[in-house]
This record gives sequence, structure tokens and C-alpha cells, in this order.
Amino acid sequence: MTIREICDPASIVIFGASGDLTQRKLIPALYNLYRKKRMPEQFTIVGVSRSAFTDEQFRDKVREGVKTFSPETYHDADWGIFSQHIHYLPGNATELDSYKALDAYLKQHEVGYGNRLYYLSTAPSLYVSTLENLFAAGMANEADGWRRIVIEKPFGYSLATARALNQTVHSVFEERQVYRIDHYLGKETAQNILFFRFANTIFEPIWNRTYIDHVQITVAETVDVGRRGDYYDGAGVLRDMFQNHLMQLLALTAMEPPISLKADDLRGEKAKVMNAVRPILLRDTVRAQYRDYRQTEGVAPDSQTPTYAALKLFIDNWRWQGVPFYLRSGKALKRKSSEIVVQFRNPPLQLFDIPRQEQHPNVLSICIQPDEGIHLKFEAKLPDSREGKTVEMEFHYDTSFGKNQIPEAYERLILDALLGDAGLFARSDEIEASWRLMDGVLEGWEKDPRALPTAFYERGTWGPVEADELLDANGHAWTLACEHC
Ligand code: BG6
Repeated sequence: MTIREICDPASIVIFGASGDLTQRKLIPALYNLYRKKRMPEQFTIVGVSRSAFTDEQFRDKVREGVKTFSPETYHDADWGIFSQHIHYLPGNATELDSYKALDAYLKQHEVGYGNRLYYLSTAPSLYVSTLENLFAAGMANEADGWRRIVIEKPFGYSLATARALNQTVHSVFEERQVYRIDHYLGKETAQNILFFRFANTIFEPIWNRTYIDHVQITVAETVDVGRRGDYYDGAGVLRDMFQNHLMQLLALTAMEPPISLKADDLRGEKAKVMNAVRPILLRDTVRAQYRDYRQTEGVAPDSQTPTYAALKLFIDNWRWQGVPFYLRSGKALKRKSSEIVVQFRNPPLQLFDIPRQEQHPNVLSICIQPDEGIHLKFEAKLPDSREGKTVEMEFHYDTSFGKNQIPEAYERLILDALLGDAGLFARSDEIEASWRLMDGVLEGWEKDPRALPTAFYERGTWGPVEADELLDANGHAWTLACEHC
């Protein structure tokens, strides 16, 4: 059964509308929501950026985006009706007059409603001036209807900059109006972590230090930095992937059950577990660069920016005391795979005649992408022998729900922002807790006395050998259950 979700009529204003994200993700998501009849009865989409487009030119540009990035759902007739809702207004993010003109323009379209969702998809350097100008133009004021703001990543560059940005945000909007995007939270499989843990009774009683030996979180990509060298070289894998996506996956895996799914109950538990992570020791970190990264346009020839990192961390609370969590992510790796692996402890007594090297612990793998599903490995008796064999119980989205049933993360997130549900968006305290940890590692790396601290790895491998050694030291090894999916 699907619960019908009704959104209020609203204007959706995309700042930075000429950028890639609008074409690749935002308009395709809005179009697909429209096709699924999830958009409000009345809505207006207004793209704003410095480029000069007419409405028609902008519609043509974003139609190409839908055709390219959501080809299976594009239909001329649907697009024809949907695109009438799309408008474009040239504007300069740093000039107050542009906001006054935008406000007047929106008011012409907002007949009988005044709700607005502002979507900040500009360069992060423009976030502060956009926020300040929205305030100065009276556009954050809720006298005519609700006002919400979606803020794209990266949210800050460090704890200090994230805090400063939160302060500016809070001087214009209340936290309940703020939706900080982390598209991993919009992924079906990430949302399913909570279902898996809390809509079932059989897993939660063993989800703790008594039964779990360690946890691994892998977000491996085959793509390299591509044309994003300018941005990436200043960021690196810790800011680009760990501070947001990996830390959110960690929080969903390790958090306590919330008392409800209300945004603040959920986010309160995530913030608590992030705050319980012990500062990470330098010796529990590995960083590396794929071999030809420095040849990328926009990258410094002597860049030390890591494109790969692996971390070992501990959570200082009753549930997780002493359980290592290993996190790794990198670009130009062997296979695209995001997976959470929970390895259980060995049975207290080995009754069966299984040689030591063939004794395998139970492993539960939550495959976030690409082959979305869950796997449980356990031991079974090999028929007609005294030996055991590892077998698997599997759940795949494709076989259980049909092919292509998984929507794009942005669909869920935009819909939730329109519905006023911030549960899948990061709250200011979560962001700050996560930056605090990352800052600790980044500062440690900066002060690292070794001359050339960054190791190299070959493209198409699983990263540097140091990452294997990090686990090997505790008798562990990286595993991906979905390796053979
Ligand atoms: C983005 C990062 O947030 O996430 C990119 O900036 C990365 O560098 C991307 O490639 C990965 O997202 P996904 O959904 O493809 O796993």
C-alpha cells in the first residue's frame, strides 16, 4: 500500500540553475514526481542564475537533461504539460536587486498560495550572500506561506566553516526550515537500513558488541575525478565522501532506535552516535592517491590530496564499546560498490570438525548499490560429509520488487522537502559532529612528519596495501559479499 502524500502548492526556486545538478538531477526528479502525480496541484519552478536564458531556452536545456538522465521516463506529451510550470529569471546571487526582482516575479505567479522552497545549488562561495540577500529582501519571512531552504553539499570545508555557515543560516532561517542535502540519505537502500533494523525483531537483539565482531563500510567508485579537478584537489576524499556519505551510513548502522521517525527524534539519535565516536588516531588512517591523479586538469603537480582513504574508528557507548568500524572510500577503484558488512563473532565453542582456516563467521551485508539487496552468510552441513560450507540467504530488490523500482535519491529528497519532512536531511549538530572528526584526521595528516605521506595505488585495484594492513593487524580483511552479485 502506498501512503498518498499531499504537498502544499509551492514555488520551487533553483539558485544556480544553469549548473550541472539542475539538468542531471533536479529537473529529472521534479519531472518524475510530476509523472507520479506527487507534485502539488499548483506549482511553479523558477530557475535563477547569471546566464541569459528565455523560459523557452531554459526549458529546452533542461529537457535535454531529462532525456539524457531519465530516458526511460521521458514522454513528449507529459513534458509538454510539465514544462509549462518551468520559468527562468536571470539574476546575480550577490545583488539585492536581483532578489527583489525575483520576489516580485514569484508573487505574480503565486496566485492563492505563498509557499516557497528555495534550492541552493550555486557554488558554495555564494551561499552566504544568497542567504543574506534572501533575508534583506524579506524573502525568508513566512507571513505569506512557509519558506524552506535546501542546501546542497559541501556544507562547509571544516568544523569552523561549517559552524560559521550554520550561524548565517540560523540568522535567516530557523532550523525547522533548513534541509541540508546528503543524497545518500535519499537512497532507498540507505533508508532500508532503518526498516531492516527496526521493522524486524530478529536483528536488533544481536546488533551490539556481544555478537558483532566488527563492521566495514565501503563506498568504492570506479570513476576518477574527471573534470572536477579544481574542486576535488581542494577537497579530497575525506571532505567529498566521508564527512557526509560515509558518516551518515555509519550513523544509520550504529544509532540507537529513535522513539519515533519524526525528523528530530531520528536526527537526535544520529547526532548522539556521531558524537560518541572516539577521536581517530593517525595510525588508524590510510590515505592514498591513484597513480596519475596529478595529471588531472586543475590538480597541483605535487598535490597531496587523497583520492582514497581508510579509517578505523570506535564508538564509545554501551552498544559498541571495543567494536572496530572500518570505513573506506576511493576513486578509480576496481568496482563500484557501496556496502555495509557486519561480521559476527565466532561461536564460543567449535563442535564440528572444521579446520581453522575453513571456519567462517556469519556475515551480514547490506548492499547499498549497485545490486541493491541484503545477504546473510552462514554455515551449513555439506551433505553426506562431516564438513561445513558457507551458504547465503539473499534478498535482491530486483527479484522481490521488480526491475527498475528504485527511484533516484533526489526524488525522495525533493518530495520530503515539499512535504516538510526533514528526517532525511542532516541537522546542524550532525554536520558539526562529523566535521569535528574529519578535522582531527585532516589536521593529523597536515602535521604528519613523513615527507611524502600520500601512498599511491594503481587504477582498477582495491587501493593501497596499507588499507589491507590496517585490518590485518586485527586479524580482519576487507570483504564485499556482493562481489559475485
Ligand atoms: C558526491 C561526490 O557527493 O557523491 C562525488 O561529490 C561522488 O565525488 C558521488 O562521485 C557519489 O555518489 P553516488 O550516488 O554515485 O554513489
